[in-house]
Amino acid sequence: MKLIDGKIISEHIKQQVIAQVNDIKAQGIEPCLAVIIVGDDFASRTYVNNKKKTCDYVGIKSLEYALPESTTQEELLELVEKLNADKSVHGILCQLPIPKHIDEKIILNAIAPEKDVDAFHPVNAGHIMIGDGVLRPCTPAGIMEMLKYEGIDVAGKNCVVIGRSNIVGKPMAMLLINASGTVTVCNSKTQNLAEITKKADILVAAVGKAKFVTADMVKEGAVVIDVGMNRDEDGKRCGDVDFEAVKEKASHITPVPGGVGLMTVAMLMENTVTAAKMQNLKG
Ligand code: GUN
Repeated sequence: MKLIDGKIISEHIKQQVIAQVNDIKAQGIEPCLAVIIVGDDFASRTYVNNKKKTCDYVGIKSLEYALPESTTQEELLELVEKLNADKSVHGILCQLPIPKHIDEKIILNAIAPEKDVDAFHPVNAGHIMIGDGVLRPCTPAGIMEMLKYEGIDVAGKNCVVIGRSNIVGKPMAMLLINASGTVTVCNSKTQNLAEITKKADILVAAVGKAKFVTADMVKEGAVVIDVGMNRDEDGKRCGDVDFEAVKEKASHITPVPGGVGLMTVAMLMENTVTAAKMQNLKG
């Protein structure tokens, strides 16, 4: 079994971003990411702090807009519009979840597609489907980079994705299809799940349930990618995969922590510098 090390691969991506940041700074452009957080969800705060820290590391300017839980939809929309119009801001990210009294879809659709570094806007989702997406959703894009770094060719492989969210499952399936994988997308209602997952050469678990993928669900020699971020019965961080048992069968496996999560932030940095380039250097 080979561990797919998110630390090493995300550092590789970040070094590439640093080179690009230096390049566009030399042309007088300072890449800038605006991060919006509404309310005081503890996990969201941790993610946002991590994103800001990584911006500092790669030389991207970050702006934080921390709004109270009581923020209205109109106020949030007003902020998004202001950031859309601000030429010094290249990326806009609204950390999810946002409070229930605000319609998430309305907010995400209001972010200008060229500044949508999460690639959640329908225009960017459409580009991903067609296969010409420039801004790719960070987690699926990070997984593709992990496969590439490890020299794992997707073409012709049976790929099984467990989870069909708009953030991970669906765009993951699209990127794998675009790489000529044979892709099956499962969900919580899928019948005979283990029979399907056992056929996977590449298995991506994005379920949100601790240790959901057990060894009997995995084919000998499979590549196992764990998108989960859960706590086990002892309160320890763990993924969607029963790592200790599955690692005995997998040819490659990502750990949690230290796996996909690190890639997500690195790809956000890459998207931000790509957005800054697109907005300034076109034509
Ligand atoms: N909440 C959980 N994952 C994400 C993500 O990738 N982007 C944003 N904006 N919020 C999230």
